[in-house]
Amino acid sequence: MKTISLTIDDKKITAPEGENLLWVALDNDIYIPNLCALRDKPEPAAACRLCFVEIDGYSQPVTACTEAVRQGMVVNTKGPRALRLARTGFELLMASHPVDCGHCAANRSCELQKMAAHLHVKLKTKRFRTLLRELPIDSSAPEFIYDPNKCVLCSRCIWVCRQQGRVAFGFAHRGFERVITTFGDEPMAESKCQDCRECISVCPCGALVLKD
Ligand code: FES
Repeated sequence: MKTISLTIDDKKITAPEGENLLWVALDNDIYIPNLCALRDKPEPAAACRLCFVEIDGYSQPVTACTEAVRQGMVVNTKGPRALRLARTGFELLMASHPVDCGHCAANRSCELQKMAAHLHVKLKTKRFRTLLRELPIDSSAPEFIYDPNKCVLCSRCIWVCRQQGRVAFGFAHRGFERVITTFGDEPMAESKCQDCRECISVCPCGALVLKD
């Protein structure tokens, strides 16, 4: 594959032509907030709307996970319009996310904490009214706990589960009621889950955590 050069945040970078911009940036230690992308997933869901960047010649910010790199591209991950969109998306997400990091197993490894620091916003948003879901926590599986209240609906877990040849869970309902759950909303222990833990390894926050 042809190698091209581009600039991200004034840093000169070389990468294979057509590579995904999000992974090129991350591989070069340039952080762009992201939740729904997975490196092995060929088609990005582009659902979380957090990975906005500004690209010279474009009239508006675009999502990095849907952009392929090309020769001479000039990317700004810290442009005011991209940051404004990412901050709004993040704060909307956090308006329905419980913030109790001290009691969360994902504390200090949580993508949401990393994003808040990067975007210079607080985890507890004051900009939007907080509306928590108060759904029951599923601890029926022998190895892990699923807390749908902390789920950010990134769908990473659904994708990796399907890659394992299983369909233990998927999306149900719409809008604020949208949730990732098992078929028929049965407890995890009675679902098709085989305890492979792949979903836990890709969960960006504390929604899927090991019991120990
Ligand atoms: S990572 Fe790009 S929209 Fe979610």
